[in-house]
Amino acid sequence: MTLKNNEYSHMKNVILLVTVFLVLVSCSKKSQNNVQTNQPSKNWWKEAVVYQIYPRSFKDTDGDGVGDLKGIISKLDYIKSLGIDVVWLNPIYGSPNADNGYDISDYQAIMTEFGTMEDFDALLKGMHDRGLKLVMDLVVNHSSDEHKWFQESRKSRDNPYRDYYHWWPAEKGKPAFRPGSFEADGSGWRYDSITNAYYLHYFSYKQPDLNWENPKVRQEIYNMMHWWLKKGIDGFRMDVIPFIAKDTTFPVITQEELDKKYEGRWDVYMASGPNLHDYLQEMNKEVLSKYDGMSLAEGAGMLKSTALNFVDEDRHELNMGYHFDGVNLGYISGYFKKMNPNWSLVEFKKIYSEWDAVYKDKGWGTIYLGNHDQPRMVSRWGNDTPEFRTYSSKMLTTFLFSMRGTPYYYFGDEIGMTNAYFNKIEDYKDIETIAEYEKVKIAGGDLNQFIEYQKTGGARDNGRTPMQWDDSNNADFTTGEPWLSVNKNHNQINVEAQDNEPNSILNYFRDMVKLRKENPALIYGDYQLLRAEHPEIFAYTRTLNKQKMLVLLNFKSNNSNIQLNEVKDMNKTIINNYKTLNVKNNIITLQPYQAVIISLNQR
Ligand code: NOJ
Repeated sequence: MTLKNNEYSHMKNVILLVTVFLVLVSCSKKSQNNVQTNQPSKNWWKEAVVYQIYPRSFKDTDGDGVGDLKGIISKLDYIKSLGIDVVWLNPIYGSPNADNGYDISDYQAIMTEFGTMEDFDALLKGMHDRGLKLVMDLVVNHSSDEHKWFQESRKSRDNPYRDYYHWWPAEKGKPAFRPGSFEADGSGWRYDSITNAYYLHYFSYKQPDLNWENPKVRQEIYNMMHWWLKKGIDGFRMDVIPFIAKDTTFPVITQEELDKKYEGRWDVYMASGPNLHDYLQEMNKEVLSKYDGMSLAEGAGMLKSTALNFVDEDRHELNMGYHFDGVNLGYISGYFKKMNPNWSLVEFKKIYSEWDAVYKDKGWGTIYLGNHDQPRMVSRWGNDTPEFRTYSSKMLTTFLFSMRGTPYYYFGDEIGMTNAYFNKIEDYKDIETIAEYEKVKIAGGDLNQFIEYQKTGGARDNGRTPMQWDDSNNADFTTGEPWLSVNKNHNQINVEAQDNEPNSILNYFRDMVKLRKENPALIYGDYQLLRAEHPEIFAYTRTLNKQKMLVLLNFKSNNSNIQLNEVKDMNKTIINNYKTLNVKNNIITLQPYQAVIISLNQR
């Protein structure tokens, strides 16, 4: 087809006009969206609520006392009813279970106690059919000593797998100290007589550290990640990922150096190895960038000053990380997880506010108060007495779903499960608690006192007792003998009792999840701390474009007043864990553990 000259010039004008129009529309749209500066880019994983399941403790279907994949499948409708989007499963791979699955002997198999690969496929399908995503734990700082790589590696110094791990020949003398968690002698090196050498293990001797310097190791790991992602999983939570990179000359580190460069903290030194970000960028390029999955760094040793190195979008590494500053607040130094019950709310606010500021312009954070390594949220940060358990659980849930950052919510917290308060060492199954008990014993310390600290403080088994489904024997978790005792309070605290009770903790949780989803300000909005020095109330606003919310949380068991100018802009109360709210002039009086979110009129 040919066009005459005047037809051609007319057409050119039309095209020009249409182009100008389209450019104008797009500019005006952009400026509407960007009324607020530095608004974070939108991603599904920023809007998601993640529910963490500790598979060992969720639901057992074969009576061996250990939760299994079929058990999770049987509860998928319950999980869906929570309104959450993503399930993070603690490790379910082949493992001899020295550290409950964080010691993997086969990355592409399912732990026998948990079921089969067919069960896994059915679980994944069941989740996807319901619109739920599945995130798996990726444990690649170390494997199990029963992994075939390590079995080979220890056979001889010239075995092809030797360099899959970190070995130190004994003829060079003892290697420089590195800490090993979960060992009574505290050492991260273990002597292996077969080849007269020491191997490195940052955790127990059953968890030898993989050598990321070796490109073959990295390739094996990337291949394994592809294998799971191709199966359809939706991402990874990466166990102690900052630890993968080490100075493999293993120099002596003096206390002075630790103090000067690493805030005196071994975990920071261990997390700061050379090449770390080269490895993460390589992993991103080779694997993560090829899928629309999410990635979460367990931020062991991660500092406010280093966090963006992991999650700044422009660096192409990971999506999110979680820090430990919040959950580490209130421990008394010099003791293993001894808690100060009078931890400071002012300090708590400072920590969460400063971490929010880290991600103000770039990257993205997370928010959590409990997980499988922590005591129960309500026992630690709220008040688990019958009088206040419900109010304080709801208050903490309000906090988690009204802060910026993707919320990670631990199974059982939605019904207000509490610490186990076990009285004797035989009740504890966790490798960490048992090793620490041994340390105290060797040092001739007070063992009764140690147990007391574990009850209220940090024993990880506090958060690992089985899910409380109903008030029957063993809370309907198992028909057999549970691997870890069910909390006696399952008579009062259980899913059945709360499911249809409108005022239950469980239904408040469901309401809060919904509220977050319906109000983008709670997800993407700017965070502004109010009255930072108030010792009892945590008050803040979340603002996005025309939407502004005021969040008020009383962390104490007494009534507490707060004077706020924002009161005059109050529009309506969106959620309240009490029936009433006392407001006089510009003073609000919150009842014990009261939580409210109020929408404000924007001026
Ligand atoms: C962190 C995990 O959360 C914890 O449970 C585990 O013991 C260590 N990493 C070692 O893998």
